[in-house]
Amino acid sequence: MILRVRASSYVASSVVRSLSLASLLTVACGGSAQPPAAPEPAPVVATPVAITEPPPPPPAPKSLFERLGGKEGVAFVVDEFLKNVAADTRVNKLFAKTKGDRLEKLKASLGDQICEVAGGPCKYAGKTMPAAHKGMGITEAQWDAFIEDLTLALQAKSVGEEEKSELFASLGRYRDDIIEKKPTKK
Ligand code: HEM
Repeated sequence: MILRVRASSYVASSVVRSLSLASLLTVACGGSAQPPAAPEPAPVVATPVAITEPPPPPPAPKSLFERLGGKEGVAFVVDEFLKNVAADTRVNKLFAKTKGDRLEKLKASLGDQICEVAGGPCKYAGKTMPAAHKGMGITEAQWDAFIEDLTLALQAKSVGEEEKSELFASLGRYRDDIIEKKPTKK
């Protein structure tokens, strides 16, 4: 009887031992027989690209009118110019009657004309150049003297060489309309 009891307790203890070993193996191996999970895909990381802003456009070139100092600058030049003309014996006889309101009108007309040819916002509305100078018998030498008087006025305003050349190139278009080599007799 004693022997039987021992035999059965031996059987029980070895069942317990086998169960414990199985549980230990199960825990050590991850608990289940499922395959390992697939690795997480690498996160998509945007590669930084250097965005270079296009350079700003260069500033619009200034018109000759602006470079002459706008309306004020042109008015100053015209004023100086007509003072030079009045003092210049090569041409001033032609301007003997150009005084008072008539002088102011000529200043305004010349101002508008210079402003317009220099790209300013004015509109010259006076006589055409041939009509304005018709019969005056203006010679080439008088034309040159007139341009010299204008040059002195531009210098008084410290106008640059480039601006002077541009203005003379624009006014030069009137040369043949104004010079009368053979004055017409009235
Ligand atoms: C670039 C050359 C010139 C320009 C742009 C110019 C422009 C003008 C203008 C706008 C007038 C006024 C026209 C009007 O009444 O509607 C005028 C009148 C006149 N211009 Fe010229 N001119 C030029 C050359 C000359 C020259 C070379 C002379 C003589 C040396 C001259 C003598 C005169 C005279 C005497 C008058 C009349 C002034 C008055 O009304 O009392 N101009 N000119």
